[in-house]
Amino acid sequence: MKTNLVRFAHDFARERLKTRNGFFAVDATAGNGHDTLFLAQLAGENGRVAAFDIQPDAIEATRERLKKNNALANVDLFLCGHEDMAKHLPENWRGNVSAVFFNLGYLPRSTRQIKTHAETTLPALNCAWNLLAPGGFISLAVYTRHEGGFDESARVSEWLEHLRSRAEIFSLGTHNPVEPWWAGIVKKA
Ligand SMILES: C[S@@+](CC[C@H](N)C(=O)[O-])C[C@H]1O[C@@H](n2cnc3c(N)ncnc32)[C@H](O)[C@@H]1O
Repeated sequence: MKTNLVRFAHDFARERLKTRNGFFAVDATAGNGHDTLFLAQLAGENGRVAAFDIQPDAIEATRERLKKNNALANVDLFLCGHEDMAKHLPENWRGNVSAVFFNLGYLPRSTRQIKTHAETTLPALNCAWNLLAPGGFISLAVYTRHEGGFDESARVSEWLEHLRSRAEIFSLGTHNPVEPWWAGIVKKA
């Protein structure tokens, strides 16, 4: 299921972004840098990607992955919580971001103690929503099998329900708090 969520998210993004060149994108949970690299390659040299993580190891792993793939030049890496993303982004990103990726949970092959949780994920989702351009989207992959994961999943689902009139929502998975699920949340024009 895990792999499928990532693949699904990338296919969704590729399809929606294929006609845009040089867009702004955010990876809110850089981790090992797979989504950051994907976004950097899609955004191209005229685009820019900002990636956030609270773990130095994650930021370094992401930097290495980008370097190896010659994709570091159009990415800014921030060692800080995604709930503070707006503080670090230039003014002209507001209302002008095409994609924000969230991949909730813990860093694979690392401690499960450091993970996303609802108290910061919800403010970050609100922040991401405000940054989006009309037609821009949030890709939200929700993994639940860690301490607090069910609670985070339930509260994120609730957040999503409140957006229904303002967003077009695409889903994979059941949104029940036990199984991993994914949503693509497109801001209506
Ligand atoms: C499931 S991993 C992300 C995987 C990543 N997308 C990849 O491609 O490898 C979740 C990441 O979220 C990070 N994280 C936890 N709380 C965070 C926060 N408040 N702000 C930013 N990142 C956070 C963790 O350190 C972890 O690296």
